[in-house]
Amino acid sequence: METVKFGIIGCGLMGREFASAAARWCHLPEMQVKPEIVAICDTNDEIMKWYTDNFASIKQVTKDYKELLANDEVEAVYIAVPHNMHAEFYCEAIKAGKHLLGEKPFGLNKEANDKIYQCIKDNPDVFVRCSSEFPFFPGMQRIGKLIEDNFFGKIIEVNCGFLHSSDMDTNKPINWKRMLKFNGEYGCMGDLGMHTCHVPFRAGWIPKSVYASLSNLVEQRPDGKGGMADCETWDNATLVCQTENPVTGESFPMTIKTHRISPGNTDTWYFEVQGMKGSVRWSSKQANTLEILEYNGGDQAWQVIDMGHEMAYKSITGGIFEAGFSDSILQMWAAFLYELKNGKPIAKFAGCVLPEEIALSHKLFTVALESHENSTVVKL
Ligand SMILES: NC(=O)c1ccc[n+]([C@@H]2O[C@H](COP(=O)([O-])OP(=O)(O)OC[C@H]3O[C@@H](n4cnc5c(N)ncnc54)[C@H](O)[C@@H]3O)[C@@H](O)[C@H]2O)c1
Repeated sequence: METVKFGIIGCGLMGREFASAAARWCHLPEMQVKPEIVAICDTNDEIMKWYTDNFASIKQVTKDYKELLANDEVEAVYIAVPHNMHAEFYCEAIKAGKHLLGEKPFGLNKEANDKIYQCIKDNPDVFVRCSSEFPFFPGMQRIGKLIEDNFFGKIIEVNCGFLHSSDMDTNKPINWKRMLKFNGEYGCMGDLGMHTCHVPFRAGWIPKSVYASLSNLVEQRPDGKGGMADCETWDNATLVCQTENPVTGESFPMTIKTHRISPGNTDTWYFEVQGMKGSVRWSSKQANTLEILEYNGGDQAWQVIDMGHEMAYKSITGGIFEAGFSDSILQMWAAFLYELKNGKPIAKFAGCVLPEEIALSHKLFTVALESHENSTVVKL
C-alpha cells in the first residue's frame, strides 16, 4: 500500500481526530493509500504527549510550523489552527509544495480566503481541500445519490443548518471563537457555515440572493481572570437564500442556520429537501435514521429507514451497525487520500470541499454581513 507522510499543524481537538483516524486505517480494506503521521507542530507543549505516546511514526515535534514545512519527508499537512492564522499557514504550506487538508473557514474573511485561493491557483500541483465531515454519514450519502437521480422533482424548499448549544451557559468563559481577532467578523458563520454549504454547493444549489438575520445573544462572558470580556462575534445566523436549481432553472428558498445558541442541540447538523415528487430529511441527532417521502398522487407517507453502515469508502464494519462522528471523520480522510491518489472522489458527494466551494461560502457570508447591516436582501 502506498503511504503519504503527514504533518499535523495545530494538535488540538481536530488534530487528535485525524491522528485517531489514521491509527485505524485498517478499517478501510479497499484503500490503496494510507496516511502516516511523521511530524507534529503546536505551540502548546502539553498537547504533544498524547501524540508521541501513541504514534511511534512521529519523528519531528516542533513549535514552529515553518520547521515542519521545511521537513522534506512531510508530503502533506493537516492544519487545524484558529481562523486568523489560516491565510499565512495555508499559503506557506502550499508554497512549500505540501498537499493540504485545511480546516474551515479557510481564512478569517474573504480577503484572507482570496489570498489562499490565489496561492492554490499558483501551485496547481498541490492538492488542497477543506475539511467537512458530516456529508459522509450514510444518510447524507444516500441523499447525495437522490440529488444525482433528480428524485425531488420541482424543489419546494431546502433547509439546512448546524446547531450548537454549549454557549447557552452564560457563565462559560470566553474562548477564541467569541473574539473578532481570532474568529473574524463572520462569527458563527465562519465557525459552522462551511459544514452547512458543502452539500448544497456540491448539488449546484448556489444562492442568488440572501437575507440574513444575525444575533449576538450574550454580549459579555467571564474572561477567565475574574473579570468580564466583550463577546464581539455573532452567536447565531439565519440566512434565507433565493437559490436556483441548475437542473430545472427554477428557483427555491433555502434556509441556512448556523446557531451557537440553540437550546438542546449539542452538535446537530441537519438537512431537508422538500420536493413535489420526493422529500427527504436527515439530522445528526438521529444519525442512523433517514426519512424519505415519495409522492405519486397517493398517500403522503414518510418512510423511516435505518441506514446502518452504508459508507462511501468500504469499511470492515458490518452493514447493520450504525455510524457515528468518528466514522464520518475516517470517511472524510479516506475521501481526501482517495482523491489525492485517483484524481477524483469515488462519488460526486463523497469528496472533500473544493477551493471553489470554499470561495463561494466566503462570498455568501460576506454578503450576509451586508444584508444584516442594512436589513436588505443582497444579491451574490
Ligand atoms: N471539522 C470540524 O468538525 C471542526 C470542529 C472544530 C473545529 N474545527 C476547526 O479546526 C480549527 C481549529 O479548531 P479546534 O477546535 O481544533 O481548536 P483548538 O483550540 O482545539 O486547537 C487549535 C490548536 O492550534 C494550536 N495553535 C495555536 N497557535 C499555533 C501556532 N502558531 N502554531 C501551531 N499551533 C498553534 C493551539 O495550541 C491548539 O492546540 C479551526 O479552523 C476550527 O474552525 C473544525
